[in-house]
Amino acid sequence: MKIDKIVSDSPVSAKYAYFDTGAAAPPPTPVIDRVKAYLDETAELGTYLPSLRKRVYEDLETTRAKTAAFIGAKPEEIAFTKNGTEAICLVAQGIDWAEGDEIIVPETEMLSNLSVWLQLEQQRGIRVVRAKASLEGLLDAAAIAEHVTDRTRLISFVALSNVTGAVQPVAEICAMAQQRGVMTHVDAAQAIGVLDVDIHDWGCDFLSTCGRKGLRAIEGSGFLYIAEPRIAELSSCMIGWWNSSVDGEGALVLPQTAKRFEAGCPNVPAIYSLDAALDYASDLGQGAIEARCREITDYALQGLARIPGFELYGPADAAHRIGIIPFNIKGLDPRSLVLELEMRGIIIEAGHFMASSILEGYNIDCMARASIHYFNTEAEIDRLVSNILDIKESK
Ligand SMILES: Cc1ncc(COP(=O)(O)O)c(C=O)c1O
Repeated sequence: MKIDKIVSDSPVSAKYAYFDTGAAAPPPTPVIDRVKAYLDETAELGTYLPSLRKRVYEDLETTRAKTAAFIGAKPEEIAFTKNGTEAICLVAQGIDWAEGDEIIVPETEMLSNLSVWLQLEQQRGIRVVRAKASLEGLLDAAAIAEHVTDRTRLISFVALSNVTGAVQPVAEICAMAQQRGVMTHVDAAQAIGVLDVDIHDWGCDFLSTCGRKGLRAIEGSGFLYIAEPRIAELSSCMIGWWNSSVDGEGALVLPQTAKRFEAGCPNVPAIYSLDAALDYASDLGQGAIEARCREITDYALQGLARIPGFELYGPADAAHRIGIIPFNIKGLDPRSLVLELEMRGIIIEAGHFMASSILEGYNIDCMARASIHYFNTEAEIDRLVSNILDIKESK
């Protein structure tokens, strides 16, 4: 991987060592150029100039095909969304729940993969069953299987945890669910653009993600994958122009593809950013990105472990984690550490990351989180480590 070129495509690197891809990655220059070019065209030609609009809608279908190919899916199985949360809600609101149906949601999940299920518990009388993870935040297919009953309809779980950095055994969980006739939704908000994902290796029914993290598209981008046989089973809770029409008899007609989950004016700038981000990631290669992420994560783990009082959360075995490194340093308040590092040109985050049960397991209420991506360099990691050491010594 040509790190120098990647760094020169990432203007943020001239100012900051940026370790917060877990929240949002800085888009590389080609992504921003693509969005700017489109916005300039809208200013110069008018957004709905017929010939521009025609080209935009054709481009959009090209992006749909590219998005599908990126994960090994078909274009018909992809709906664009504005973020990961919207994609999860489309699944949750689209299933024909009956009172007493059950969904398994492990304790590893952040709010966007929990609140909507709890709302359905209140509104439709489904039962949300919370499955335990190991202390390190790892899920186990056999342990989840113990919660499956004849009322279980869905297992909804994260592929790569935003809190612990744990990489879950997605294929094993999906295979176990499929054997029992249970659907699966994989929250891949942190995984897409980091892990080398093939939807058929995973075998899930639904996958949700945003584009602004591992993929490095802009905010407001995301997509939902729906396995072809599920498209007709899921009702679309948002409809209007773009995803519906009325036939000669006055009856409602919906597309037979995942486009039926996109209502109204598409978020064109975000979709263009997704297109350029997919090109950028594909040029680097998904396998090469995952390998680089593993390498640089290992380097960071080894460097941070040299700091006295360093406490790592999540899997101890580096093979079970990638990118996200949650930690505390004994004697340092994580929120103050974030502020002090920012003054030194280093960006990390601190908080509870909306996963209280995991923090309870560690008996803490806040953690620092460095999230590392392929554009980070060994020199930036060295700066992170030496600055934390310096801050610690100055206390
Ligand atoms: C694991 C996980 N799932 C879902 C989401 C929600 O995605 P979005 O913020 O794009 O709605 C996030 C966002 O941080 C996340 O980290």
